[in-house]
Amino acid sequence: MSGSAAIPGYTAGTPAVAKSPVTLAEFELMKNSALFGDEDVKALRQSHDVVKDQVEAILDVWYGFVGSQPQLLASFLGKSDGKPLGDYLGGVRKRFGQWILDTAKAEYDQKWLDYQHEIGLRHHRTKKNQTDSAAASAAIVPFRDLFALIFPVTFTLKPFLAKKGHKAEEVDRMYNAWVKSCLLQLTLWSHPYVKTGDF
Ligand code: HEM
Repeated sequence: MSGSAAIPGYTAGTPAVAKSPVTLAEFELMKNSALFGDEDVKALRQSHDVVKDQVEAILDVWYGFVGSQPQLLASFLGKSDGKPLGDYLGGVRKRFGQWILDTAKAEYDQKWLDYQHEIGLRHHRTKKNQTDSAAASAAIVPFRDLFALIFPVTFTLKPFLAKKGHKAEEVDRMYNAWVKSCLLQLTLWSHPYVKTGDF
């Protein structure tokens, strides 16, 4: 999470972020449920070098996909005029780029866990639009699309993972680790969407 102080609204590791309701011990068990182990941590960290100079190109593909799907783009539009909120899309994009690097760093400490909860709140009506002062936008990212997006995000990442000359099985390991990491993160982000006591 270093070198990211210049990204507006990226508050990971600062007092602005509340403590996650999920404990690190619970997260360890979630990792086990996803068959996520030390090999996956290694593979994610290996992917850091692979993706670090491809972040903008990856974001172009992901934003291209979201932009092509009206039900997804709706989360970034003005509620009343239906027009894309450029500053909002741009502000989120910078933090999305940092998220790629953070996911690849795979450092699962309390600060990381706390920021996961913050990201969930920012998709949920609790905090959506607040970070970028985008009050005109939709009130919530609907839960129904959250997990579905894991497939396009990871499937379109794979060619980027293959771009630095790694063997097919190494690319597969990095890809699998990304899929598992996204599943675990999205589950953490779901906390605000789940009925109290049911997470
Ligand atoms: C694989 C699934 C997803 C991933 C990896 C992802 C990732 C992210 C990240 C990293 C951020 C910025 C967090 C920060 O503030 O630091 C973000 C924000 C946002 N995402 Fe997602 N997201 C996913 C699913 C979705 C879906 C399905 C939508 C619906 C279009 C969506 C819409 C948004 C919006 C509107 C924001 C801005 C929230 C705000 O107002 O702060 N996301 N997302």
